[in-house]
Amino acid sequence: MKIIITRDYQEMSVRAAQLVIDLIKQKPDAVLGLATGRTPIGFYQELVKAYLRREISFAKVKTFNLDEYVGVNRSSRDSFWTYMQTQLFSQVDIRQENINMLDGTASNLQDECINYERLIEDAGGIDLQLLGIGLDGHIGFCEPGTAVDKRTFVVDLTELTMQSNQETFTELKKSPSQGLTMGPATIMEARKILLIANGKNKRAIVKKALYGSVTTKVPASILQRHLDCTCVLDALASGE
Ligand code: GLP
Repeated sequence: MKIIITRDYQEMSVRAAQLVIDLIKQKPDAVLGLATGRTPIGFYQELVKAYLRREISFAKVKTFNLDEYVGVNRSSRDSFWTYMQTQLFSQVDIRQENINMLDGTASNLQDECINYERLIEDAGGIDLQLLGIGLDGHIGFCEPGTAVDKRTFVVDLTELTMQSNQETFTELKKSPSQGLTMGPATIMEARKILLIANGKNKRAIVKKALYGSVTTKVPASILQRHLDCTCVLDALASGE
């Protein structure tokens, strides 16, 4: 595991984005695994800037997002779909047909999960998976206790996750209680992993995940076993 400690949120975003910019330059048809949340907003802004500078193009890039809420329409302001369209997709030249996101309103959620795994496989697997980390150590929506061999699945969200995500909602009155998420096994198959974390409130969980024992109680700790995982932290999250 490679750990890069940066001064602040801005530098964390720039350093993390640079890894993806380099990948796209080297492999214009890269398959990216993407994440939502407050943490990657600056990272997406840096990707947009690189696109506007004509350093990179997303014309051949394919994306797969980690997760989505169950029962929330894509048109909702609080869906991860809307988040991705706003933060990145509408601002770059990605083709809509190359965007893959789980549909939390699918009539058969199990089939939706199985189909998502198939789409990832058909795309040749994920070259780089971006991850944030939840306060309880979750990655995607893989909550504590998730078996490491699990693939994309329907998950019951914990109270902590519901509360934390509630703060970001502008439309939904109540947090959905379920999500669809790639499983730890799906995430670990990505050829590269890029975890980003910032802020003092992430310090304790980052320490556990990166330096503690590998346990399903802290889902992100499994990343210690990945052969090509880079963590970009700001000073507050790293404790330095
Ligand atoms: C959500 C997402 C995760 C994200 C986490 C942390 O639960 N499903 O992918 O990493 O929240 O979010 P934030 O970056 O807002 O702290």
